[in-house]
Amino acid sequence: MSPTTTVLGIDVGTSGLKAVLLDAAGGTVDEASASYPLRTPRPGWTEQDPEDWWTATREALGALWARGHAAGQIAAVGLTGQMHSLVLLDEAGAVLAPAILWSDQRTAAECQTITERVGAAELLARTANIALPGFTAPKLLWVERNWPDAYRRARRLLLPKDFIRFRLADVVATDVSDASGTLLFDVRQRRWSDEVVRALEIEPGLLPPALEGNARTGSISPAAATQTGLIAGTPVVAGGGDNAAAAVGVDAVDPGVLTVSIGTSGVLFAPLDRFPEQHHVDGRLHVFCHALPDRWHLMAVTLSAGGSLRWLRDLLQPLLPVSGDAAYTWLLERAAEAPPGCEGLVFLPYLSGERTPHVDPLARGVFFGLHLGHRLEHLVRSVLEGVAFSLRQGLELMQGVGADTDVARGAGGGLQSPIWRQIMADVLDVSVQTTTASTGAARGAAVLGGLGVGLYASPDVGIRWSEQPVQQPQAEPRSALDAAYRIYTGLYPRLAGSFAESA
Ligand code: XUL
Repeated sequence: MSPTTTVLGIDVGTSGLKAVLLDAAGGTVDEASASYPLRTPRPGWTEQDPEDWWTATREALGALWARGHAAGQIAAVGLTGQMHSLVLLDEAGAVLAPAILWSDQRTAAECQTITERVGAAELLARTANIALPGFTAPKLLWVERNWPDAYRRARRLLLPKDFIRFRLADVVATDVSDASGTLLFDVRQRRWSDEVVRALEIEPGLLPPALEGNARTGSISPAAATQTGLIAGTPVVAGGGDNAAAAVGVDAVDPGVLTVSIGTSGVLFAPLDRFPEQHHVDGRLHVFCHALPDRWHLMAVTLSAGGSLRWLRDLLQPLLPVSGDAAYTWLLERAAEAPPGCEGLVFLPYLSGERTPHVDPLARGVFFGLHLGHRLEHLVRSVLEGVAFSLRQGLELMQGVGADTDVARGAGGGLQSPIWRQIMADVLDVSVQTTTASTGAARGAAVLGGLGVGLYASPDVGIRWSEQPVQQPQAEPRSALDAAYRIYTGLYPRLAGSFAESA
């Protein structure tokens, strides 16, 4: 291969699409992004138009070509994206309905139906997970009940990145990590669950073949080449769900190396080298396939992580001296002025319900313990601490499963902020590594692409962790944070009934 060989990773995110080019040594060459709207037709509903993802793909690639990068040097394309979100296509490959997104909470009734039809124990034994409104199967049942015409005409069910694969390569396929989030997948055996598919009376032909994340899934079609500027015949590799891909991108594939990422949602991710013992699989943590063979992972998800800070920023925006990203920086600087534990102020980040450890779409955000001494800086810091407390509950569940939790790597998003990173290290009591190199799911997709065509030998390509700064947990804030955490963990059980009542 020539020294200028690159690999391309494409991430179909919730707030936008990102395309990253890596070189043959795993270094970042360039990246481009394009955004698209998120529709909330009703409270708790979130939808996107898959056609917007395709437009954004073409825009982001166009930006790369405009900056002089050559499509002819790309050895492989790897794909990733938001997990769980449902795309339905008709016989001709046309989109039948808006994509119902992972963050959508409309499917509580369908979750109950699935649990009854499959049986709670059988569902856990087959899929390793419980029915959550965010997962794909409940969305499919909702479409069956509410958009019967779309359901009747549906011939293919795809996840977001796999829709882009279909457009790029004219191939229908997914990967095992993303398939794990559908609730139709046998995570232990790494194949679709015939039993669950049958119990839910889903047409098996709807489901795409599920391959390992580094497997090749066709190549750029002549039609896609014309539309995108990519070269026909360039291999397209399976890739992974955004969390698994982001973990691959920071070489978190072996037990002991966690990832923590703060996007709209917050995710703590623990790789496993075997499927956990069945008695540990109780639905409180997600148990999914990793994007590389013979690896699984545990995952804890805080639905509103960066989303909580964004909410606060948007709320305060008219009062702030700066706007946009600068407003985040301004707020994070204020947070650094408040003491650990926020002098009794505790934030519950349940602005859009919660997943881990409380599966509760009806839970709502709370500021608890306000008094006259609290200032803006306390409010901001308590939001950062509340998100970290939520992830600590996930970490404690992972430790209960016996997962090694030696170090956490920042895998993209909000942990670029030193204050949030330090809070995370202090609250989790784990050292947090970050890198100045680009991270995130798009990088991981590119790495999977490079692994798939043999350009890379291992996912540790391109980042030297030993040279990067590590945020160590500090003993002193820990006692104030522990006290606040005890208050935090006591609040949900006391409030759950009130959340249900107010809903
Ligand atoms: C994971 C999840 C989110 C999305 C975000 O289960 O729902 O992290 O993958 O894109």
